[in-house]
Amino acid sequence: MSNHLEQIFSAAVEPPASARIPDFTEQREYLIDGKLLTWQGDLAPVRSPICVKTDKGLEQKIIGSTPLLTSKESLAALDAAVRAYDLGRGAWPTMRVAERIEHVERFIARMQEQRQLVVNLLMWEIGKTQKDAEKEFDRTRDYIVETLNALKELDRNSIRFVQEQGIMGQVRRVPLGVALCMGPYNYPLNETFSTLFPALLMGNTVVFKPAKFGVLLIRPLLEAFRDSFPPGVINIIYGRGRETVGALMESGKVDVFAFIGTNQGASELKKMHPKPHRLKAVLGLDAKNPAVLLEDADLDNAVSECVTGTLSFNGQRCTALKILLVHRKILQPFLEKFTAAVGKLKPGMPWEPGVALTPLPEPGKPAFLKGLVDDALQHGAQVLNPHGGEIHGSFFSPAIVSPVNERMRLYHEEQFGPVIPILPFDDDEEAIRYVVNSQFGQQLSIFGKDSKRIARLIDASANQVGRINLNTQCQRGPDTFPFNGRKDSAEGTLSVSDALRVFSIRTLVATKTTAENKAIVHNILTQRESSFLSTDYIF
Ligand code: G3H
Repeated sequence: MSNHLEQIFSAAVEPPASARIPDFTEQREYLIDGKLLTWQGDLAPVRSPICVKTDKGLEQKIIGSTPLLTSKESLAALDAAVRAYDLGRGAWPTMRVAERIEHVERFIARMQEQRQLVVNLLMWEIGKTQKDAEKEFDRTRDYIVETLNALKELDRNSIRFVQEQGIMGQVRRVPLGVALCMGPYNYPLNETFSTLFPALLMGNTVVFKPAKFGVLLIRPLLEAFRDSFPPGVINIIYGRGRETVGALMESGKVDVFAFIGTNQGASELKKMHPKPHRLKAVLGLDAKNPAVLLEDADLDNAVSECVTGTLSFNGQRCTALKILLVHRKILQPFLEKFTAAVGKLKPGMPWEPGVALTPLPEPGKPAFLKGLVDDALQHGAQVLNPHGGEIHGSFFSPAIVSPVNERMRLYHEEQFGPVIPILPFDDDEEAIRYVVNSQFGQQLSIFGKDSKRIARLIDASANQVGRINLNTQCQRGPDTFPFNGRKDSAEGTLSVSDALRVFSIRTLVATKTTAENKAIVHNILTQRESSFLSTDYIF
């Protein structure tokens, strides 16, 4: 045990009143077909990353429990969604867009009432700092509001008729069917809702299974979901992935699979679907985003971007910088400044003012990270910063590891935690090779000033990754920008407007432009006889 970290959990004994959550939440409720049902079976304990002292040493505090549903309940949830969709004839998939929007607006108002509790649960369940937890909540609400606005815009644009070669047509977007939405533990609210709400708004019905951590924070929203949507439109289940989600995929009744997690997990689940050609997948997967620091980079900017890029939320972001490729000519000055900046980051509890580093929610994660560091040490690297890699319970002190080479796991594997591999290079071609040969292809950051060299790196990477960031860390936002990835990093593109597209398909009504046909269409429109063929304008 390290002295320097010994006090880290002492603030957990007396958190401020504003950061408290109920002592223990035994959740038994789950949502199927518009009803909150009560589970009488086994429960899974919810372990906080925040540790408490026990006779056996530091242990993750148990803050509640959630239902361990079986395949029977998850299939019941799926059946409710299938009924509500009713082969596309259900009230929800055929509802006018303006009405669907009203349902979601009702939800947003109810969600806002739970802000404090959800924010506190984000701190206690996944160790997100208060500032970042508040940001996650507000960003999620804003994302849903922006999605409503994008949908209104999409709907307004589809009012017009296209006239081509004597044929007139109106093209609109319609739902795909039943969606299964699963999000990750690092953004258990934001990333799940950024697929769930576009799916709902486009008229799909949904089965939603919360992430493996950040589960209790959905509980305060269950009533809002129940009251805001017609029965069966949104169903929320809990339990082990294999047992619950496996059964859903095997049923063949899932039409859209929205999943943020590992590529192995996504592949295994996709394979279970008996008719893979009928399954549309929207996936956000692993990444190993590199930063390339050229020798003319503005060092202060590069250091500041790389500190947040590698370590915000302890490096547990899919978009985090996971390896820093530093030109050998600036290696020493960069490492000095970077090590000093990392040393200034404050470790502590999520609610403490100015805290930047917090404990990790995944049991076994410190040991996994230690394994990566040990492997690098065996192959000739060193930990450069004081206390780097020290472990205290669920807390792992950030480790800057250099020089990293191809034989090390840290070169290839996504660490998803506070370990920062440094890879020195001499020739830009080495950096390009790293990007091209990587199994992943989400994003890349380039730091430098020489436009010619930067342009060459851009051109060499443009067909490899989904976003190239100049003198800036990798990130998803702004949420109106496309967010995707190549290779094992993603399937499909998300953004406020793109998500509406991925959860829908275009259908059109077309007819020869004869007087008789025009009269029929005119009647349908003026008498408002169809929900689909319509020129109703949403204000
Ligand atoms: O974990 C992946 C998130 O989508 C990253 O979003 O770049 O805004 O932190 P962010």
